[in-house]
Amino acid sequence: MTLAILSALAEEQHSLRARLQDAERVQRAGREFWRGRWQGHEVVLALSRVGKVAAATTATALIEGLGVRRIVFSGVAGGVEPGVRVGDVVVADAFVQHDLDASPLFPRFEIPLYGCDRMVCDAALTATLFEATNQAMAEPAGRFEGLGLPDDPAVHRGLVASGDRFVSAAAESQVLRERLLQAGHRPLAVEMEGAAVAQVCFDYGVPFAAVRTVSDRADEHAHRDFTRFVQAVASPRAEAILDRFLGLLSRS
Ligand code: ADE
Repeated sequence: MTLAILSALAEEQHSLRARLQDAERVQRAGREFWRGRWQGHEVVLALSRVGKVAAATTATALIEGLGVRRIVFSGVAGGVEPGVRVGDVVVADAFVQHDLDASPLFPRFEIPLYGCDRMVCDAALTATLFEATNQAMAEPAGRFEGLGLPDDPAVHRGLVASGDRFVSAAAESQVLRERLLQAGHRPLAVEMEGAAVAQVCFDYGVPFAAVRTVSDRADEHAHRDFTRFVQAVASPRAEAILDRFLGLLSRS
């Protein structure tokens, strides 16, 4: 059963490419995919690109064109819940679109004609990803020294909010969080693709799970922190988590 590993940007995929055996390049939908084997699994590495529409196209191409039957997203996110620090990791249980508003036709955040406002991740795949993430984070983080990351990064599990905005102001992050809280959603972090991939996976009945390392606090420093983090930390961190994940995952 082929598994796709999605990253948003090429910098985040770099270490993953090095792990792929018998790598073969496949082109589709103006995108480049890498098909190969990792820990005995059939794996496709893909770039979602940035934003919900681009990510939905990539997910659809993976399922329709490359026969992928499980998808895992590995990337970075901005922390919005107090206590979700740069360097921590968030494993998503579910996604909400913080910029979706078809009110008054539908309640705020509800996905029109789906009758729900959250896309829930696959329970079994998420449990395996959570275990793999905890194992990876328990390893000494020597190679990340000097980057000002916490010595004791936490692994959080919960809701992630997606939207077509790079959130880079503390006031905006606060308003976004409060609006979601008022509607009964408590987001740990924000990013720009997960909810779209989750919705495509829901439509096709494909199990989906996601892990995001916190690169910034979605505040005035977000751009600087994001750029530095994506270059130095995101790719090796993703590799450490996914290597354990594939080791734990059943091959059937
Ligand atoms: N991904 C990483 N940081 C982000 C932020 N601050 N806003 C949106 N997506 C992000």
